[in-house]
Amino acid sequence: MVYDSTYVISESSTTAAMPQGVMMLNKNGLEIAVNPGEISLAEKNSQLSPAEQSSQIFKAPLKAPLKEPLKSTPQSLPEVTAKSELDINPSPAANDSPISFKLDLLELDSGQIAEIAAKPTISILGLGYVGAVSAACFSHRGHSVIGVDPDVEKIATLNRGESPIVEEGLADLLDNARRVGRLEAICEPRKAIMESDITMVCVGTPTGPNGECDLKYLRMAAEQIGSALAAKDDYHVVVFRSTVPPKTTRDILIPILEKASGKISGRDFGVCFNPEFLRESSAIKDFYEPPKTVIGAVDQRSSAAVAELYKGLSGELIETTIEAAEFVKYIDNTWHGLKVGFGNEVGRLCKAMGVDSHQVMNIFVKDTKLNLSPYYLRPGFAFGGSCLPKDTRGIMNLAADNSVSTPLIDSILNSNDRHIEHALSMITACKVKRIGIVGLTFKAHTDDMRESPLLELVRQLQDRGHEISYFDPNVASEDLLKMGVERQLSYSRCLNIEQLVNTTDMLVVGHNTDYGRGAAHLAKGFMPVVDLVGLGNSFKYAKNCQGICW
Ligand SMILES: NC(=O)c1ccc[n+]([C@@H]2O[C@H](COP(=O)([O-])OP(=O)(O)OC[C@H]3O[C@@H](n4cnc5c(N)ncnc54)[C@H](O)[C@@H]3O)[C@@H](O)[C@H]2O)c1
Repeated sequence: MVYDSTYVISESSTTAAMPQGVMMLNKNGLEIAVNPGEISLAEKNSQLSPAEQSSQIFKAPLKAPLKEPLKSTPQSLPEVTAKSELDINPSPAANDSPISFKLDLLELDSGQIAEIAAKPTISILGLGYVGAVSAACFSHRGHSVIGVDPDVEKIATLNRGESPIVEEGLADLLDNARRVGRLEAICEPRKAIMESDITMVCVGTPTGPNGECDLKYLRMAAEQIGSALAAKDDYHVVVFRSTVPPKTTRDILIPILEKASGKISGRDFGVCFNPEFLRESSAIKDFYEPPKTVIGAVDQRSSAAVAELYKGLSGELIETTIEAAEFVKYIDNTWHGLKVGFGNEVGRLCKAMGVDSHQVMNIFVKDTKLNLSPYYLRPGFAFGGSCLPKDTRGIMNLAADNSVSTPLIDSILNSNDRHIEHALSMITACKVKRIGIVGLTFKAHTDDMRESPLLELVRQLQDRGHEISYFDPNVASEDLLKMGVERQLSYSRCLNIEQLVNTTDMLVVGHNTDYGRGAAHLAKGFMPVVDLVGLGNSFKYAKNCQGICW
């Protein structure tokens, strides 16, 4: 990992959810927890050439330098005469266009052979779908790989250069890896860890009896790695790749590793969480062309070691906290499930109404400004306005009239209402009577108050006996009167943000505007502020400010 030498250090890292250390923004604008002692190394490394940076990862010792290439790393590779190519044409998923992908199997010049000899050896615990594909692809990229699995049949299959799973192109890559001596599968984790520099953990995390993520295989793997590390002097990086709930690595796996090894993570050995984004049936193509590479790490040295493994692959490299790296994989999969469910509900409704669903959705997906885009996906406040609630209700009604079951669509307004309730409970928990609201319209820069969730929030606060003052440059008292609001509720309209802050005991910011940020700035030193819109890091970590969902 190389940071830009200019760092942005956020105000503080004092919230309970934030890991210890300094919060920094890396070159992707992402926050990352970094131990203060590592900053100078990062700055120093950013001056180096890529090759120098790569050697620094392992050579700059924290405790002991990495050993020479391992015994299992072939010093000279078998002579290769013919170039062979692997053609991977996975069958396209519905709506996807066919993919054609080619990998060169073998054609190495002397420079590449030298480069390979210097590459870290990787041990992989768990040789299922993820582990077998990773073993094949990392060995294809020039690493010596030692695969570990308790399943003796799997081990024998891999050692014959055959694939333990059905996955296009995998058998060829495994066969190739065996022929050039860069893959070995064994049952003993200890030996694999002792003879490698990096261990990737790809064991299963199935659903437990109560729907929870069952961590038993991961706990066992961490135990095995930790006890091997106890006997190992060289620096080693442990990379968890199995999908887990956030905090699993920091709260469960690292303590197991540290207890079993008697060593400290981030000092004596490295730990990363590096989720896998492959899709079965196009796994090798996905390995080489990932949508993104995400690395969450305990320290910069671990992160740099893992980043080096993916050098040259397409997709953005994102270095972040361990917790964000863990969670994004869960969120990705849930999002994919949500997309499939939504598309299918639309399909059922279209069919019932005699509309061509493929035509509708083909047009829908062409909109990459509002539909398939980051728009509407950032956590914030509830939606409202003249269209979204009305048309969601309309489509629910159509579905009911046509006897089409659309539970996903039916849940949207309910979910929105729960979000308003959540804001309400955050505000009432502050136990103040006089509440100032910045913004009443459903979003900033409009005077439209139809189905404004801010207005709904205010109504519910009023029902609970709170006194409400507001500042909204686009809402005059007559506007509220016209809507019949003023008759039921008493609002104090403030002429400016100073008046709002001076006459209330807490502030709720509903518009992310100059006046919203200005009011929060005035208030943040001495009264509670609830931020519904994401005002930025200076408010995110301020003591008396709370974000609605951050
Ligand atoms: N399958 C996918 O497409 C995919 C994609 C991305 C992420 N993931 C995640 O990756 C993880 C692995 O998934 P999978 O589908 O490859 O699982 P899998 O069940 O196919 O394979 C897991 C393997 O781990 C082995 N194992 C269990 N304990 C072990 C230990 N202590 N040491 C060594 N090996 C051990 C098992 O014998 C098995 O072969 C899961 O967390 C999964 O959610 C899967």
